[in-house]
Amino acid sequence: MTFSRMLEQIIILDFGSQYTQVIARRVREGNVYSQILRYDVLAEEIAKLKPKGIILSGGPSSVYAKDAPLPDKGIFSLGIPVLGICYGLQLLAQFLGGKVEKGLRREYGKGSLRIKDGSCPLFANLPETMQVWNSHGDKLTKMPRDFKSVAVTENSEYAGIENRQRKVFGIQFHPEVAHTPLGKEIISNFVHGICGCGKNWTMRNYIEMAVGDIQTQVGNENVILGLSGGVDSSVAAALIHKAIGDQLTCIFVNNGLLRAREAETVQNVFGKHFRIKLKYADASKQFLSKLRGVTDPERKRKIIGKEFISVFSDSVVQLKKSREHAKGSGQFKFLAQGTLYPDVIESVPIAGNPAALIKSHHNVGGLPKNLKFKLVEPLKCLFKDEVRQLGLELGLPKEIVFRQPFPGPGLAVRILGEVTQSRCEILRNADAIVVEEMKANGLYYKIWQSFAVLLPVRSVGVMGDERTYDFTIAIRAVESQDGMTADWVKLPYELLEKLASRIINEVKGVNRCVFDITSKPPGTIEWE
Ligand code: XMP
Repeated sequence: MTFSRMLEQIIILDFGSQYTQVIARRVREGNVYSQILRYDVLAEEIAKLKPKGIILSGGPSSVYAKDAPLPDKGIFSLGIPVLGICYGLQLLAQFLGGKVEKGLRREYGKGSLRIKDGSCPLFANLPETMQVWNSHGDKLTKMPRDFKSVAVTENSEYAGIENRQRKVFGIQFHPEVAHTPLGKEIISNFVHGICGCGKNWTMRNYIEMAVGDIQTQVGNENVILGLSGGVDSSVAAALIHKAIGDQLTCIFVNNGLLRAREAETVQNVFGKHFRIKLKYADASKQFLSKLRGVTDPERKRKIIGKEFISVFSDSVVQLKKSREHAKGSGQFKFLAQGTLYPDVIESVPIAGNPAALIKSHHNVGGLPKNLKFKLVEPLKCLFKDEVRQLGLELGLPKEIVFRQPFPGPGLAVRILGEVTQSRCEILRNADAIVVEEMKANGLYYKIWQSFAVLLPVRSVGVMGDERTYDFTIAIRAVESQDGMTADWVKLPYELLEKLASRIINEVKGVNRCVFDITSKPPGTIEWE
């Protein structure tokens, strides 16, 4: 990302740790911009960015292995402060003349760090002992020249090392994870104390920079944006609108698979409140007719994806013809997307790096790359929590900014088997009750996702004097950091009881309610 004005920044070289992005987030939480780059980027390229500091991430390799990922040695001669974390410490130690060997046993889990030299700026204002999180098999056995040990753990004499004069520091533990409770202070000591960064990375400042950049990129042209009602596209819309006003037109496609009141909320917030030009394409019937008779989950996704592109493209054509939306030329040269930073970070293909293996497998709802648009992606350097903060700064309602993730194919993957209008109606009603009760119990915004699933198997029940033969609703509530793994949430019995009672009494067509207690893995969050 280039910013119209140069920001102070910290460069993080990624050696394949599953925590690299967490390091970047911690730095940014200290209001300093950080960027993740591949481990082998050339020192001269780094120098061009004029970073205030460099952090070497952890990683699954051994520094002495034949195929170990190594940085350009030149990074140690740039005169820029360096902090090596775990593998990063071992790397810098080996590069600068120390020795790393296989440890007798792996040090994994919580440990107790004792600071030997309280004058080390990395540990400024910290207590003499603190809990830290370790995860390493190799060990530094000989210090590089001109370095000294400033902190130890039960297992390591070299848990913290420094060459204060050269401003090179190494820590064997992970300061970025929650199990190192004072880790944030250590990172802050590095970026503020040692590198001398100020605190200018805030979403308020970001709005100013991004608005300028969007105006420069777009000029007098028109921009189109597919609004889904989710956090990312909503924040992108509000930001771009702030920059270019009526040159932005949003298209909102109703695929008939939305949750209760979703279409109204989007129209109210963006059309009425923000006064953004909004084309509402109600294609519910079209989608449902294409889905008739289809039961295979992947086919459902494909059909919905294809239909979305077709409806979106038709809408653009109509907009161009009507000229009602596009200013000037009547053309739309740019397409805006709510791409986030984690989508663009090039993962390091190192064996054992889970981040490299986890690639998005859900690209339904996306647009094909060959559409003849130039892209505007103003969130491309932001993490999700920053996007939410940005949304609040831009005045978006909490309901949108903190809404739970909702899959592109919508209710279609929560209705097992065939999707029909009446099944959508049943699920929408049941889901609205789940959302309402989760909100009323203060749980909705605390967890990753909570929703209803329709199981179209009929079972027998009694209601009053009557025998019923109706569908089942499953309630799903999960806790997760990123959707890749998830735990089911232990909802209070009273809440479960209320949910079941309300759903069965209020939703026609349902006579049984179950609670899903499957975690991911082995389950998935959605049922299809
Ligand atoms: P699963 O079901 O794979 O879901 O455990 C992980 C996360 O991804 C969401 N999800 C989707 N998102 N299109 C999307 O945009 C999809 O087809 C899709 N399927 C699942 C899901 O809601 C969860 O947050």
